[in-house]
Amino acid sequence: MNYRHAFHAGNHADALKHVALLALCESLAAKPAPCFALDTHAGRGLYRLEGEEARRSGEADAGIARLRPGVDSAIDRYLEAIAACRERHGADAYPGSPWLLAHALRAQDRIACCELQPGEAAALKANFAGDARVAVHARDGYAAIKALLAPKIGDQRFARGLVLVDPPYEAQLAEFDAAFAALREGLSRWPQAAFALWYPLKQRRALQPMLREAAALPAKSALLVELLVRPDDSPLRMNGSGLLLLNPPFGIEERLAPALSALRRLLEEDEGHGDARLEWLRAPA
Ligand SMILES: C[S@@+](CC[C@H](N)C(=O)[O-])C[C@H]1O[C@@H](n2cnc3c(N)ncnc32)[C@H](O)[C@@H]1O
Repeated sequence: MNYRHAFHAGNHADALKHVALLALCESLAAKPAPCFALDTHAGRGLYRLEGEEARRSGEADAGIARLRPGVDSAIDRYLEAIAACRERHGADAYPGSPWLLAHALRAQDRIACCELQPGEAAALKANFAGDARVAVHARDGYAAIKALLAPKIGDQRFARGLVLVDPPYEAQLAEFDAAFAALREGLSRWPQAAFALWYPLKQRRALQPMLREAAALPAKSALLVELLVRPDDSPLRMNGSGLLLLNPPFGIEERLAPALSALRRLLEEDEGHGDARLEWLRAPA
């Protein structure tokens, strides 16, 4: 496995995924009952945008560097989370999904993070050593869905929660086979949870078979959230990204719609050449 998220931290795909992740957490945390979050492909949890990898790719320059406050409330909350991360960890810090989960969730909530690469998993463990809410597992995140769901810690069961599946797609489209098998397993074990699968967009038409399969997953509802920062006319570049949200919390469409249009405006490479889509594959009953 060659993928290192440090090259991509803070890019347009992270911006979309992390804005949506915070919005999902906010909905979950609106009720006092404890929640459980599983991050199956967690990365190291904290990145350095002045580090060698991030500087070499420069991807954050076309990502979070283009965002500004006061445009949309969900984007504001994301920028506030980045600012909180920088206050604790330095001016070039960028929070990965485990950091954002720990930031957005509460004392009564619990978080499990899986990471397969030993170096990344060790860094993740070190980054959360002081947070008793966060359990780090150096293991395969797909297998963890079977092992850890439905969540139960001591006598405590969790009615509410979220599973983020954010694989590196080194296997290209074949990654969807593993991801969908894991989602089916997760939905059967913990049907009331929300699930979010991130995916890259190169040429959108290549994803038609995956979208048909996604629509047939045994979820109560399924929402697509997609952002293209340039036309999807090249099969070689990541022109955008998407999230498949299964059983998202009530009201998420209204929260994400304005954020998505604002992200398109702020992140599209050339004015008017980006695209955004918020579409129910299965609308809630
Ligand atoms: C896209 S990155 C994660 C980024 C992170 N979710 C975030 O938003 O900050 C994907 C991570 O998954 C890890 N990985 C790859 N295959 C895995 C597997 N089967 N189980 C767990 N982690 C895996 C990679 O080492 C990499 O760190």
